Amino acid sequence: MSEILKQLQGALAGHNPLVYIHSPEEERIMRGLQQAAENQGLARISCWSCLKGLDGQPDSQGPAAALQLVVSQDLRGLLVFKDLAPFLGQPEVARALREAFLDGQSKQDRILVLLCAELNIPETLKKEMYLLDISTPDEEEIASLVQALNQDHSHPAIPEAAVREIILALKGLTENEIRYVLQRACTRTSAGKDELLDEIFTEKKSVVKKSGFLEFSPPRWDIDSLGGLDNLKSWLKRREKIFSREALEAGVPIPKGLLMMGVSGCGKSLAVKTISALWNIPMFRLDMNLVFSGMYGTPEEAFHRALKTIEAVAPAVLWIDEIENALGLDESGQRVASHIFSSFLTWMQEKPPLIFIAATANKIQALPAEVLRKGRFDEVFFCDLPTAPEREEIFRIHLARNGANLEEFDFKMLQVLSEGWNGAEIEQAVISARTDAFYEQRTFNQRDLSNVISRIVPLSDTMETQIKAIRSWAFSRATPASKYGKSAARR
Ligand SMILES: Nc1ncnc2c1ncn2[C@@H]1O[C@H](COP(=O)(O)OP(=O)(O)OP(=O)(O)O)[C@@H](O)[C@H]1O
Ligand SMILES: [Mg+2]
Repeated sequence: MSEILKQLQGALAGHNPLVYIHSPEEERIMRGLQQAAENQGLARISCWSCLKGLDGQPDSQGPAAALQLVVSQDLRGLLVFKDLAPFLGQPEVARALREAFLDGQSKQDRILVLLCAELNIPETLKKEMYLLDISTPDEEEIASLVQALNQDHSHPAIPEAAVREIILALKGLTENEIRYVLQRACTRTSAGKDELLDEIFTEKKSVVKKSGFLEFSPPRWDIDSLGGLDNLKSWLKRREKIFSREALEAGVPIPKGLLMMGVSGCGKSLAVKTISALWNIPMFRLDMNLVFSGMYGTPEEAFHRALKTIEAVAPAVLWIDEIENALGLDESGQRVASHIFSSFLTWMQEKPPLIFIAATANKIQALPAEVLRKGRFDEVFFCDLPTAPEREEIFRIHLARNGANLEEFDFKMLQVLSEGWNGAEIEQAVISARTDAFYEQRTFNQRDLSNVISRIVPLSDTMETQIKAIRSWAFSRATPASKYGKSAARR
């Protein structure tokens, strides 16, 4: 039995008078409901929509009137109200729904189903409603869609050897998206595995784009553009092949996620950006400001949709920058967005294995202990200010990127001059030196860089106390990202 039928049958078997099905796939759900109702002995299905009313009855387009008809005519069977969500904010509709619920409590053969693409349950009805979140088609359903396409001889069939891989890649798309993507791919002259996988991947990217708050982060950053942080880099490199089909088939445990915390400007965000190119999987950045903006419904609804969307594009990296702002505590120690926080923790526990979370945090004290508990993230890394050899590496990277001739620089001196600097400040110094020299129409050199360095006051001078506090907090809780470890921080 497919997962959808199990879920629907389970909901009907509970005889809850009010069931809310949250899904954009109306046709698929209706087919499933038909079958589940038959299996459950609920022969009759009635439907309401604001255009057609309740089974076409006159004057039943209004949602409150239709709900009252259910009670006054003592209707039985499965009563499916399509897209009722936008009306639920009206007091008379909420009240009519409650009355239909109360009336139906004693009637085993009447189940009221709200089938809606959006999730909008009024606070007053939360206790009465049985919520069902239907996932996109499972492997069994996808296999039958693929089989149907293969039997339709107007298209070239999907090669038998590729079927399993194609089914896995299609997971997370809706039934219609699967149909369109397969048909598009098969109208081409050949439906080779690679063309099919390309088409599926393009579809998934467009699914993410439509969501609005997930942004594709192109695999532009090479791991070699990150200076120092050798422990972190070797952790990432050792997992380079972990998302391959071979690793999956061999049952190698897939890492769940990584949390990077530490001093500002030390390369946390840059380190995340390198994962995509290194592991060769797409990465999407979740913009929590947009989730909280209200542009995409309530923050809870938007966040839920974001997690569902990312599931649709697995395997993928989900990047959450400054996670403490979204899931942590505010300045006064109050937990912000506690609903979101708890649903995120549950999701992390249950999420599909092919999603890797890369999170960064600055205000680590704001992160609740539950986030750091062992088992949530595979590793929590602490990025400290770079050590002297690391600063040299970072200088080399940025000088090379800015077209400097490395021979002209005294790296031992740069190590000394930049004590206490972070990577962002080193980058800024190199850019300023280049700009100064450009103004004088010459290439830049050691003297330009030394001049700039003498003018800049590093963050670590002005924020010494905060940095000490971050270090002592991280000492017992996190693994140093740098191979020079806990004691060598600023030398
Ligand atoms: N280790 C490093 N190697 C190379 N460049 C670095 C390194 N650290 C920082 N940089 C440079 O500084 C810029 C800012 O770094 P990044 O945004 O990764 O810091 P961050 O730790 O995320 O800071 P914040 O906590 O303020 O978000 C990077 O784009 C990069 O150019
Ligand atoms: Mg950052």
